[in-house]
Amino acid sequence: MSSIAVVGAGYVGLTTAACLAHLGHDVACADIDAERVRRLAKGEIPILEEGLPALVAEGLEARRLSFVVGAATAAANAEFVFLCVPTPQGDDGAADLSVVEDVVREIAPVLEPGAVVVNKSTMPVGSTRLVERILGEAGAVVDHVGVASNPEFLREGTAVHDFLHPNRVVIGCEDAAVAVRVSDLYSNVHAPILVTDPASAEMIKYASNAFLATKISFINAVANLCEAVNADVREVALGMGYDARIGFEFLHPGPGYGGSCFPKDTAALLHTASSAGYDFSLLDGVVEVNRRQHERIVAKIRTAAGGALAGVPVGLWGLTFKANTDDLRDSPALAVAASLLDEGARLRAYDPVAGEEAGRRLPALDVVADPYEACRGARVLTVLTEWDEFRWLDFERVAETMEQAAVVDARNLLDPLAMRRRGFAYQGVGR
Ligand SMILES: NC(=O)c1ccc[n+]([C@@H]2O[C@H](COP(=O)([O-])OP(=O)(O)OC[C@H]3O[C@@H](n4cnc5c(N)ncnc54)[C@H](O)[C@@H]3O)[C@@H](O)[C@H]2O)c1
Repeated sequence: MSSIAVVGAGYVGLTTAACLAHLGHDVACADIDAERVRRLAKGEIPILEEGLPALVAEGLEARRLSFVVGAATAAANAEFVFLCVPTPQGDDGAADLSVVEDVVREIAPVLEPGAVVVNKSTMPVGSTRLVERILGEAGAVVDHVGVASNPEFLREGTAVHDFLHPNRVVIGCEDAAVAVRVSDLYSNVHAPILVTDPASAEMIKYASNAFLATKISFINAVANLCEAVNADVREVALGMGYDARIGFEFLHPGPGYGGSCFPKDTAALLHTASSAGYDFSLLDGVVEVNRRQHERIVAKIRTAAGGALAGVPVGLWGLTFKANTDDLRDSPALAVAASLLDEGARLRAYDPVAGEEAGRRLPALDVVADPYEACRGARVLTVLTEWDEFRWLDFERVAETMEQAAVVDARNLLDPLAMRRRGFAYQGVGR
């Protein structure tokens, strides 16, 4: 078993650290945020992720998992250093690698000979080389330190499951011996291991996310067309999905993709394409369909409100970028809320887990702790995140509390016939 440093204790880093400890490795997980580290050391988990509290408790108890402040503290003596720090979108659309670069400079002087730096953050083509170069400049004995790309494909909400049962493990590395050492870390994980050159590994991550974003924009475009020709996109997606070449996943129309990955990763891939002189117009279209999708949801709400939103009370259900996560980064729900506020709507919102944080980000939002309270007096109710609990609410009570019973279901979560039977003016997406 190996001694591993994981730098960054966020969705990816904390999951990676807890899962690698669960697989039997000795893991020191570092973060720059001392308060986060202090809480983690007591077993308090700062994010909502199924199964993670139990794994962190297990690792702490077995003393295979510890939390420290600062990347260098964790990296000294480590055989492997996993970089799991943010790579946000920069002003020009490219991935901003400044945190990665800072961390690499910080750990370079303390790395032991034979240590391997593993890029798990999503980083564009050329980043493995970049990390090697910075290590050299910052005082690491480069000949004795390996660098590998090992992109992460976990989904928030099922991160632990996805890490322990991945569809594949991708390792991009020039040095075959280093690639074997990294793949050995996953010896208890049953998945195909694909060893490639670094550029291909880096491209696999971006191409995968861009493809999934494409599926979402594609079905959103089909949904919009279904509305124009009176077809039902749910039936269409079902009929498409039975074809194994297409599959059912990511064929759910909605307010557009969001979250901490797809928007920034599609932008970064477009930046890579333009730097390489390739016109990736297909992906441009995907991004543009996504941008317009949220405007279509706002337009539906405006129509349901009677044509204008100034002063109109609107109830919002769901604020996170998808269900079963507390992540609000690039949430389409918040983008819709911001547009409604711009048009003068009065918003009352409920989310099962992220209401408080959403209120901090959008102070004009009146966040309440109860879904019925969110629709009290509302002229329109809109479902923006597909939390399962919304299906099972008392819709007679919802209708009674509203000024008029009108629902814009941006996630196609509710049954249109049942809603209409209950007296609601119901609008979904593409049906
Ligand atoms: N969230 C996902 O679903 C997901 C999935 C696959 C890949 N990724 C990629 O993984 C990377 C991390 O994403 P995330 O969602 O885990 O981010 P995150 O914001 O949840 O976590 C990042 C952590 O790094 C810490 N950090 C920042 N600077 C640091 C420093 N100098 N030293 C030590 N720690 C530092 C932050 O305090 C934070 O806790 C990104 O490149 C992202 O694109 C994310």
